[in-house]
Amino acid sequence: MNTVAVVGTQWGDEGKGKIVDLLAADADIVVRFHGGNNAAHTLVVNGQKLVVRQVPAGVLHPGKICVIGNGAVVDPIALLAELDNLQRHSLLSDPQSFKLSYEAHMVMPYHGAIDRAREARLAKAAIGTTGFGIGPAYEDKAARIGLRFVDLLDMKSFAAKLERNLADKNAYLKSILKAKPIRGEDLLEQLKRARKRLLPHLCDTGEYLEDAIAAGKRVLFEGAHGTLLDIDHGTYPFVTSSSCLASALCAGAGVALSRLQAVVGISKAYTTRVGGGPFPTEIKNRLGERLREEGEEFGAATGRPRRIGWLDMVLARHSLRLNGAWGLALTKLDVLTGIDPLKICVAYEHRGQRYDRMPPGGALLDRMRPVYEELPGWSRPLDGVQTLADLPAAARRYLDRIGELLGVPIVMVGTGAGREAAIVLKNPFAA
Ligand code: IMP
Repeated sequence: MNTVAVVGTQWGDEGKGKIVDLLAADADIVVRFHGGNNAAHTLVVNGQKLVVRQVPAGVLHPGKICVIGNGAVVDPIALLAELDNLQRHSLLSDPQSFKLSYEAHMVMPYHGAIDRAREARLAKAAIGTTGFGIGPAYEDKAARIGLRFVDLLDMKSFAAKLERNLADKNAYLKSILKAKPIRGEDLLEQLKRARKRLLPHLCDTGEYLEDAIAAGKRVLFEGAHGTLLDIDHGTYPFVTSSSCLASALCAGAGVALSRLQAVVGISKAYTTRVGGGPFPTEIKNRLGERLREEGEEFGAATGRPRRIGWLDMVLARHSLRLNGAWGLALTKLDVLTGIDPLKICVAYEHRGQRYDRMPPGGALLDRMRPVYEELPGWSRPLDGVQTLADLPAAARRYLDRIGELLGVPIVMVGTGAGREAAIVLKNPFAA
């Protein structure tokens, strides 16, 4: 297969960076199609940690083309800092290796200010956003007042739109949110400098991808967040502001539905979430703390500690159905070493009723009592195991049971942080 999408099936942070990095080795082009720098992928290569936020995680393979599609919202100033950092690591040095859609919307400092002021006002009811202005940027897109990269082609009209937006947002910040307005004086100058560097990368990315697919190039589409953060099908309102499903790539990368050949869903061997919202299998005791430490479960974008829970089949089924997954990649199996017994949530119960599927609209999710199945754990460390045969029998049993419960084959398993610490059972690009 030549066109593959990878999407998270949980609340983000499923270890997509590692799976994308692995699959990108076989791809020619890697594409982001939604979200912004609220996403962050931590990659470990040759023992060195590198965090990418807006540029696709496939960037680590020299010679690949990285694309940010029109469905993403991009902070131009943060993007330049990210490009500088990558170039310091000798990545993306060739200007042709990075393409940014003319139609992508810009995230501006006023978006971040509004995001943070609203969260502060909500106090205990806050969503727990990353504070990077993603929601307000998508609001402007839907309200048809957003600034797009194509607007940089005409700086006179760009400056006028920016001035109008700045005045409106500052009025809103001051009088409604009771927050400090944004100082606009040097913003236009900063954006002019960003323009100079970004213009050579701007491109009609939809056309570019269509031509590449027609020419037989291999394209990997990289979902930025998890399905449970999807604006329509996630745990609303504790979600992000974009569609996080594989199907979002049609609108967000400008690629026809019929072009997509396979979807790989990604799940951790347990569950995590950052920010507020329901989490039926959350572990709130020492075991949760232990998993947080061993799995290094602190947000890559914000550094916040992640909430930890057992694997949840109800949520996994919901996500796999929505994405039409061809296979499941299960990451961080090694982190479960030494925990016995292991629990898998197979259904929920509420007031005597059993739920095998997500309750309608996600409502009542915070009142659901998980029904657990227990499986034996293992004690031998898994670091670096690359074949199923080398896994302890109990770890194999854990994988088999997940595959049985979901009816979707497990195609990859993460067994450690490093690039090579994985079992690849089926590679979609080789199928
Ligand atoms: P926003 O996307 O910054 O508006 O945040 C909305 C919700 O999505 C919050 O709960 C965030 O913690 C969560 N979120 C956004 N991006 C990610 C991600 O990449 N990983 C995990 N959670 C995320």
